[in-house]
Amino acid sequence: MNLINEIIERAKADKQRIVLPEGTETRTLQAADQLIGDEVAEIILLGNSQKINILADQLELKNIRKAIIIDPKNHGKKQTYTDLLVELRQSKGMTPEKAAVLVEDPLYLACLMIKNGDADGEIAGAQNTTGDVLRPALQIIKTSPGVSVVSGAFIMFTKTPQYGKDGILIFADCAVMPNPTAEELASIAIASAQTARGIVGIEPRVAMLSFSTKGSARHEMVDKVAEATRIAKEMAPDLLIDGELQADAALVPSVGAGKAPGSAIAGQANVLVFPSLEAGNIGYKLVQRLGDAEAVGPILQGMAAPVNDLSRGCSVDDIYRMVAIAANQAIAVKSKK
Ligand code: ACO
Repeated sequence: MNLINEIIERAKADKQRIVLPEGTETRTLQAADQLIGDEVAEIILLGNSQKINILADQLELKNIRKAIIIDPKNHGKKQTYTDLLVELRQSKGMTPEKAAVLVEDPLYLACLMIKNGDADGEIAGAQNTTGDVLRPALQIIKTSPGVSVVSGAFIMFTKTPQYGKDGILIFADCAVMPNPTAEELASIAIASAQTARGIVGIEPRVAMLSFSTKGSARHEMVDKVAEATRIAKEMAPDLLIDGELQADAALVPSVGAGKAPGSAIAGQANVLVFPSLEAGNIGYKLVQRLGDAEAVGPILQGMAAPVNDLSRGCSVDDIYRMVAIAANQAIAVKSKK
């Protein structure tokens, strides 16, 4: 897991302000304590400060008092964020009354803080569902310029060094778009390549996965992946990408050579783009459980500022790592500006 150490070191070198809306959740507090102690990020906890401090004492967490604690129900910028939410969502029917209620929801407040420049990134999901974490982020932070969809990638640390980069691969979309169109799939492929380059530090070789390799099967689902590949090539002519490919043709050189002769990706892929959320979500969990791979993510790609979702079964280490990843994403966002 040298890569994770590199990500942590990069975060320490340029500390970002990461907001944790689930401030009274035990694992979140434990991770926050370690992150503050290791100086990985400036931590902002949302929740009642008295409750947070009592919990921290019970858990014997010494660093929590160094966190910025904001009580969603009672703080100095409530009106600023209410006005901002009305301004952003007026055309969608947002009224001052509705906004005044929503700004007390920590998941909305975190996104408004990022939008207002008061935080650089957010991690949540130890208590809340993916949909509830993503919805305010999609409504308030929105996609980065030129990107049409947000999607979720996993860095898969497999036990098979012959694949990807020493066993490390990117899988996407495993978290957000249930049934992407060809255009959306192309956009997911390009965002996944950026994640491979920016977070993992590898030169992406993207395989657009299907149950068919180069026309071996005929179906509208196969056509969609072939069309997405064409669009992605048009959008990013320098990107190494090919499809449609079956997973074995994408990964195994001998199978790739047989099924897709001449392809620069077949047998060499390190980024796997799945045709639907069903395939991606099931695929990463099978590799994680049956292949004993470490799955780090979902890393949300395409958002104007980093918001990453946790699994509700996450560990303290998962939260720690996701904060470091969000900090790296925030550094990348700032460097683009
Ligand atoms: N990219 C960019 N914007 C999006 C996206 C996207 N992928 N999806 C929705 N939006 C925007 C919409 O355009 C809309 O914007 P607007 O209100 O300004 O017009 C806003 O977000 C809200 O969209 P809705 O479709 O109304 O929101 P909805 O709640 O229906 O869905 C969500 C969004 C939450 C992402 C939904 O697609 C979802 O639940 N996806 C599946 C998530 C999930 O459960 N994943 C599996 C578990 S994760 C895991 O196992 C790791």
